[in-house]
Amino acid sequence: MTDIRTLTGAINSLATGFINSQILFAANDANIFTLLESPRTAQDVAGVLCWPPRTTRMLLDGLVALELVEKADGRYCNAEVASVCLVPGKPAYQGNIVRHISNTAPLWSVLGEVLASGVPAKSFGEDRSPDALRSFILGMADIGKMSAREMLEALDLSPYSRMLDVGGGPGTYAITFLQAHPAMRATIFDRPEVLPIAREQVEAAGLAERFTYQPGDLTVDALGDGYDLILVSNIIHSYGPEKNRDLMGRCFRSLVSGGTLIVKDFLTDDDRSGPAFSLLFALRMLVSNGEGDTYSFGEVAEWTQEAGFTSGRLIDLSPQSRLWIAVKP
Ligand SMILES: C[S@@+](CC[C@H](N)C(=O)[O-])C[C@H]1O[C@@H](n2cnc3c(N)ncnc32)[C@H](O)[C@@H]1O
Repeated sequence: MTDIRTLTGAINSLATGFINSQILFAANDANIFTLLESPRTAQDVAGVLCWPPRTTRMLLDGLVALELVEKADGRYCNAEVASVCLVPGKPAYQGNIVRHISNTAPLWSVLGEVLASGVPAKSFGEDRSPDALRSFILGMADIGKMSAREMLEALDLSPYSRMLDVGGGPGTYAITFLQAHPAMRATIFDRPEVLPIAREQVEAAGLAERFTYQPGDLTVDALGDGYDLILVSNIIHSYGPEKNRDLMGRCFRSLVSGGTLIVKDFLTDDDRSGPAFSLLFALRMLVSNGEGDTYSFGEVAEWTQEAGFTSGRLIDLSPQSRLWIAVKP
């Protein structure tokens, strides 16, 4: 039998996990990691932030405990993980998604009530401030950069010339695909308030000439036509099965014959035994929008077959990047 201290330790670390998150959120909000690219004393950091030296020292020591920061000779400096992932402007920056997760953290305080009633406290997103929307959309870019490159390596996208990115957000996938395939053009379909953020990202990548934008509601609007590639990335987990079924039908109608649909999501195994990330993400949807869930490969396959697609194939790149690929006959 496992040692009792190990077992109690495991429970204790689950129970206190939120403390680690809150320390990370506070440090990210205060932009501490930019300051700690070079070694500084707590006094020095307190001076820049206009914080009391005592609380600053406590936060910095907490970051040392979390191994985000190292301390030597009374000075604090970013550990590798913080330097690579938490300093704005770095290629692997994750600060926007950390801020988005921090914005959604209060929703978890009512998890017990939501579980018992089935009713979410509120639908997060409808009353989002411009800052919160920006953190959400740029957070999608933080996590999408790596997944988009993984997809590019796993798939041959050379046959495609006209791509639709449904609920494209910051357009990270379309941008990555077009950078690798000079003949490809893309349209980003999203809510009107999101498209200016997408446009910013596209322009920063120097691809303005090859992109168009379509504002709309992906749960009801026609998606356009003449596309030979449609990507539905991280959309279906926000909606119930009926809306997703309907979306697959509208994707089918928007594709030319021979065109390909890629559904990317945190898809579960058919028996919902994993991956852990997908099982936990279903609860994230429950507290924040109520309607969403994570779905199995089998469920997505059923929706695309009903829409008229030929039987598809699955590609498992990572728990965050599981693809269902179906072709229109
Ligand atoms: C989780 S993000 C995914 C963004 C992007 N596809 C990616 O994988 O990085 C969901 C995106 O879908 C958009 N979206 C969600 N529901 C929508 C709706 N009903 N109509 C239009 N866009 C929607 C959101 O605005 C957001 O940009």
